[in-house]
Amino acid sequence: MAGGLFGRTLVSILPWMPKFIVGWVARRYVAGKDINSAIKIMKNLEKQSACTTVDVLGEEIKTLKEADFFVDEYKAVIAAINKEDLNANISIKPTAFGLLLDRDKGLKNISEVCELASKTGIFVRLDMEDHRVTQDTIDVVLDMHSRNIKNVGCVLQSRLFRTKEDIKELCEKLDGFADFRLCKGIYLEPSEISNISYQSIVDSFCTDIDLALDLGAYVGIATHDTQVLDYANNSLKERNLGPRNKDIRKNSPKERKGKGPGYEYQFLLGVRGNIRRKLAKEGHMTRVYVPYGSQWYEYSMRRLRENPDIAWHVFKAMIFPWSNRR
Ligand code: FDA
Repeated sequence: MAGGLFGRTLVSILPWMPKFIVGWVARRYVAGKDINSAIKIMKNLEKQSACTTVDVLGEEIKTLKEADFFVDEYKAVIAAINKEDLNANISIKPTAFGLLLDRDKGLKNISEVCELASKTGIFVRLDMEDHRVTQDTIDVVLDMHSRNIKNVGCVLQSRLFRTKEDIKELCEKLDGFADFRLCKGIYLEPSEISNISYQSIVDSFCTDIDLALDLGAYVGIATHDTQVLDYANNSLKERNLGPRNKDIRKNSPKERKGKGPGYEYQFLLGVRGNIRRKLAKEGHMTRVYVPYGSQWYEYSMRRLRENPDIAWHVFKAMIFPWSNRR
């Protein structure tokens, strides 16, 4: 595919590109270096009827000491969300809390943040990283719920073969509190465990949306792909879900502060804002993922290396700006 070749070529020359050029492009996708810049962007997004989820950039720490930074920074984020009275969640990467280094300490760090967030009804989303931590991440959700910390859910990646079983397990075990973000999955996983063609990933995503809705989950539909968005819209309509409709599924999820009627649409900051604003205008709940932090350069480079197609999307967004507004 032309986009794939282009992406790989661009990614191979990126390390030689001056950092300020990468920074200039990244400005669209990263809210800034600190919480104040993120809050400013979140307030602007609220004016566009979008709620948000905040991500402090960073992942896979090398020493447990580094996890202290993330615990403290997320505590500051929770305080800022409360102070500004924003409809916002937080999104955390379990490996930034030490889950891969020491499971118990990682869990302790994550639960410290989840407990604090639960006091004011802030939802915590565990981002899903690559397949090395899929089970551990799901186990963290199960562990938190078993300790009555129920404001926690994870992301499930539709490219993975296992995801349908994960949806079933979470819906069965979380008893009305199953709440996940469904997405394609950014990590290019091996074909033994994952769909690898575009259409098979889309088909799997669509099936997962139906399965999750039918099993009574709260579903964050995280995509900018019009094929999936159109499918999701129809699936919602078939189940009488939609703007201003009460969720009347027999097994509908327990209500939570700041959530939509059984579902919401989720977008990355800077990507296809035109579609997001149209959905919001129609009355759908929309949420924007707002990453910030000093590690913006490492984050951007890692994402591009993991999935060079992103470089192609970014390039298209720059040269055909009308097709992909912020
Ligand atoms: P696709 O990649 O086909 O994109 C559709 C169109 O959207 C493109 O043609 C392009 O126009 C535009 N587009 C997409 N990405 C763009 C970009 N970066 N810049 C410019 N234009 C772009 N993954 C994961 O593994 N774990 C996670 O926790 C999360 N979390 C997450 C949260 C949210 C809110 C979103 C929206 C996505 C994620 N993802 C994720 C990423 C997800 O798995 C997936 O890689 C991206 O959303 C891209 O897939 P799409 O479904 O958007 O389709």
